[in-house]
Amino acid sequence: MAKVLSAIQPSGDLHLGNYLGAVRQWVASQEKNESYFFIVDLHALTLEISPEQLRQNTINTAMYLLACGIDPQKCTFFAQSHVSEHTTLTWLLECTASYGELLRMTQFKDKGKGQESVRASLLTYPVLMAADILLYDIDFVPVGDDQRQHLELTRNLATRFNNKYGETFVVPEAKIPDLGARVMDLQTPTAKMSKSTATPLGTVGILDKPSDIEKKIKKAVTDSSMSIVYDRINHPGVSNLLEILGAVSMEKPENLAEQFSNYGQLKQATAEAVIEELLPIQERYYEMVQNKDHVISMLQLGARKAGNVAKHTLKRAQKAIGLLENPN
Ligand code: TYM
Repeated sequence: MAKVLSAIQPSGDLHLGNYLGAVRQWVASQEKNESYFFIVDLHALTLEISPEQLRQNTINTAMYLLACGIDPQKCTFFAQSHVSEHTTLTWLLECTASYGELLRMTQFKDKGKGQESVRASLLTYPVLMAADILLYDIDFVPVGDDQRQHLELTRNLATRFNNKYGETFVVPEAKIPDLGARVMDLQTPTAKMSKSTATPLGTVGILDKPSDIEKKIKKAVTDSSMSIVYDRINHPGVSNLLEILGAVSMEKPENLAEQFSNYGQLKQATAEAVIEELLPIQERYYEMVQNKDHVISMLQLGARKAGNVAKHTLKRAQKAIGLLENPN
């Protein structure tokens, strides 16, 4: 059985990009793999966030994931900060990483841009992500395309550590879906759909009302040529819609392009497919809101399961690097 792991930041509402690029793959994975899925609350601290907002976002993200179909009976589901091995291993890996390679991370450059003061943790963020993965001897990490560079760093750190201190970590592989790996903003289809987007019309939230989803998709920027072709470079807007519809309906965007004769038809079909996909998730989410305590207790149970695995890998790494055995 392969071992699979992935995680998400509790930075607000889940959007269609998170769902198609990552979470949908997780739900399929838990049926056939030993899977670990969690909320990276520590990663959220790399940017300004109030304590109350962080608490709210963490619980809401847990509810989103459960509503999408993550099943704590089938996978290990937890909050990152509940398993202290993640931060302890981060230090050992920070002593393996170089300052220069962290400076080259494009997400560090993007997220740090325009900030008055950049937290040191924003720079070391990808090392914490490497620790998240390496603690569990993972084979595959299902993520969207924007995490490719972080996965490459994780592989480099694992390999470097193994070469220097002896075989300690499994070197993981990124698993990026063929469709939906890069869902773009509906208003600016050259930028990825994101929680922090400047155009609210550009992002479809998982909990958006059907009428809002329809409005956003109908107002999506296409282009002036009026032709329906799947070509992400020259026709980014229409290709984004074809890819969203393709990811939801499991059809090739190239084939879908031949089925529509105008943008109106394509937008209508895309809106209907997205609404149909999201409605059952929304229903499950609102049922759960009544029972937040149960959600928290599921996370705590998951943390115990995860901790039992993580502590062995951490010990292995501590021994390999030359630390004396910890009596605790
Ligand atoms: P995060 O929270 O930004 O995003 C969670 C997942 O959603 C994917 N994603 C997208 N996929 C397609 N199109 C989009 N527009 C889009 N936007 C986001 C992301 O690729 C990701 O898979 N650093 C990670 C969290 C993390 C992690 C880990 C992931 C921390 N530790 C260990 C995997 C393994 C992040 O910030 O994802």
